[in-house]
Amino acid sequence: MADKKSQLIIEEGAAPIEFPVLSGTLGPDVIDVRSLIASGYFTYDPGFMSTASCESKITYIDGDKGILLHRGYPIEELAAKSDYLETCYLLIHGELPNKAQKDEFVNTIMSHTMVNEQLKSFLNGFRRDAHPMAVLCGIVGALSAFYYDSLDNDNPKHREISAHRLISKMPTIAAMAYKYSVGQPIMYPRNDLSYAENFLHMMFNTPAEIKPINPVLARAMERIFILHADHEQNASTSTVRLTGSTGANPFACIAAGIAALWGPAHGGANEAVLLMLDEIGDASNIDKFIAKAKDKNDPFKLMGFGHRVYKNFDPRAQVMKQTCDEVLSELGINDPQLDLAMKLEEYALNDPYFKERNLYPNVDFYSGIILKAIGIPTSMFTVIFAMSRTAGWISHWLEMLAEPHKINRPRQLYTGYTQRDYTPIDKR
Ligand code: CMC
Repeated sequence: MADKKSQLIIEEGAAPIEFPVLSGTLGPDVIDVRSLIASGYFTYDPGFMSTASCESKITYIDGDKGILLHRGYPIEELAAKSDYLETCYLLIHGELPNKAQKDEFVNTIMSHTMVNEQLKSFLNGFRRDAHPMAVLCGIVGALSAFYYDSLDNDNPKHREISAHRLISKMPTIAAMAYKYSVGQPIMYPRNDLSYAENFLHMMFNTPAEIKPINPVLARAMERIFILHADHEQNASTSTVRLTGSTGANPFACIAAGIAALWGPAHGGANEAVLLMLDEIGDASNIDKFIAKAKDKNDPFKLMGFGHRVYKNFDPRAQVMKQTCDEVLSELGINDPQLDLAMKLEEYALNDPYFKERNLYPNVDFYSGIILKAIGIPTSMFTVIFAMSRTAGWISHWLEMLAEPHKINRPRQLYTGYTQRDYTPIDKR
């Protein structure tokens, strides 16, 4: 893996410090700086612009070419030909399952969808108007109090059981959070349905009225789950890995990932897109909001545009746009907010500010529009992202724990006071 070397000369005339250059199967080579500390230096990279934090075999992104591969398979193919649970299996195990393996995996996931009945009392502790991300974060963290039987991180069987439990129960918890917020009875999961159908059933059916699930909407949901399933070392996945590196239990790690995902620069952007469209209100205001987005003194950003890694286009956004068209035509929706979104997209794509900075619509720009059309309330958008990303988070956690690993402990460039004497309060 390391056939090249790099040299760093810190002071003129000093002997160079040598570092191996590692090559992966795809992507840029990396300079292995792990030995730098022996020379008394740290590297400095706030925001991790130039840092590979780990080695991974799960997902590859080429941001310039708009490529996203899970275990080598392009996201477009998985979205068109696979389903979410098969994609979960692929992410976790590294290969697509054969028929028997798939049946067994689907059966395992779909037969562990119920949560402990006592979690309902836990739910009752939240205000009715609590944001469902707060509820999700709290309840997923609380799961660790229910599964002491399988929290030995050194036991591969325990790790697998926790992974299955998380994937199985996430839709149930998400739908519980929604039903609680609207004051409806919680719908128990139905294991005879597919993963996506079951989620829509728990969200939209009531004990008084059980309606069949529209297959187009179930397929759209499935695609949303697949398109959000993993995205290599993004902020929430890095958070899960960092938390996991301390030996924390998997439910605590995923709760940490949910918290990191919540921010509007990350998974919270899908909710923020709709809130932004509400704020813009009408196409006649686009000019004003584009000007705000370009103004460095204005914190307003065009939500759903830009990406740290994609500097050409987001391949997930392309599939999402197609799904968006399918859902809107199936439902016969003519949503003025969609027209506004399309005008905004066209405007931004032709504006030099956005062109020069490679700011393209990302996955969250379209997912919010589809979710709205399906009838999912805005506050649940990021919850759905979290449900889908659980597969990726848990795959990275499993990958890390399967190999020897160190606690993740970055250092800093300290620019505070040097040592000084304590000043008594009457002298301050
Ligand atoms: N609207 C206006 N200007 C923007 C935007 C935007 N959405 N995004 C970036 N810029 C500008 C930014 O001000 C900077 O300009 P300049 O070079 O003049 O200082 C330049 O573009 C580069 O931006 P950056 O902030 O250095 O880029 P980053 O890689 O640190 O941030 C980002 C990436 C996704 C956080 C950012 O583009 C953003 O905040 N976008 C809106 C939120 C969003 O849609 N997030 C979802 C990301 S996709 C889902 C996920 O993976 O979570």
